[in-house]
Amino acid sequence: MEKIGIIGLGNMGEAILKALIKAGYKTEDIAFYELKKERVAYIEGLYRVFSADSPEGLAKESRYLIVAVKPQDARQTLIEIAPYIDEKNVIISIMAGIKISNILSVFHRPIKIIRAMPNICAKVGEAATGIAAGKGIEDEELKDTKEIFSCLGSVIEVGEELMDAITALAGSGPAFFLFFLEAMIDAGVKMGIPREKSKAMSIQVIKGTLKMLEEEDVHPSILREMVTSPGGTTITGLTHLEKKAFKGSIITAIEKAAKRAGELSSWL
Ligand SMILES: NC(=O)c1ccc[n+]([C@@H]2O[C@H](COP(=O)([O-])OP(=O)(O)OC[C@H]3O[C@@H](n4cnc5c(N)ncnc54)[C@H](OP(=O)(O)O)[C@@H]3O)[C@@H](O)[C@H]2O)c1
Repeated sequence: MEKIGIIGLGNMGEAILKALIKAGYKTEDIAFYELKKERVAYIEGLYRVFSADSPEGLAKESRYLIVAVKPQDARQTLIEIAPYIDEKNVIISIMAGIKISNILSVFHRPIKIIRAMPNICAKVGEAATGIAAGKGIEDEELKDTKEIFSCLGSVIEVGEELMDAITALAGSGPAFFLFFLEAMIDAGVKMGIPREKSKAMSIQVIKGTLKMLEEEDVHPSILREMVTSPGGTTITGLTHLEKKAFKGSIITAIEKAAKRAGELSSWL
């Protein structure tokens, strides 16, 4: 595969870089550009990957250019690289909410764009990434992009109209899940379990449940029914959650997050 460039080496940029190196991509086949001087020194020192002199330099040397800046920095960043992008480049945007049509509006000409939405679990090689290809993307380019993001975890291809939903489900998903975990830990504390013990136990409950789900390969409701005995403790707790519309609240929260992702396109 030809050279991969990353513009914006913050949380996600670094997670992608680290995953690529771990997967065996050669450091000389990766380049980056980042505004913060101290980040540049840190990245160069830790990963032995070298910064391009300018956005222009990065665009010229990278076949695949991953744009990993915040959506509010999208316009300025795209304006800087626009003159140097031609038919050999593929822009891979991981920016939440920014649509392919928004990016095209900065370029004023057809260019190749792929949207990818990984999540923070990329840091441990367990991201869930949604990918949507824009017009003119060739099979080989899509294959290369899937290969890049499979270094971070699993990859699912969807139509672009589903990218806001993917952003909410996969991008914000870890935060929703952690919020639930926090509540479990607090419940243990409320009933007198020391915080550290409650935390260790709650995390193990989640880990064990996920492992069972994976190994038994069944729908969550089947496993949940298995631990819901007649007249028992679990059905008593679940009844309360049903009364409080637990599932409905989560569905609405994820829908609202998706709506918000759609609104971020106004930043470009
Ligand atoms: N974090 C997540 O879980 C997650 C998941 C999926 C997708 N994303 C997307 O990933 C993108 C990056 O998120 P992040 O959390 O990694 O943000 P971040 O930590 O703020 O990293 C972005 C970096 O890019 C730099 N930058 C800004 N403009 C630049 C330019 N023109 N040229 C070069 N570097 C530039 C920023 O420097 P300054 O701070 O000095 O501006 C910053 O160091 C966002 O668009 C977000 O929507 C994030």
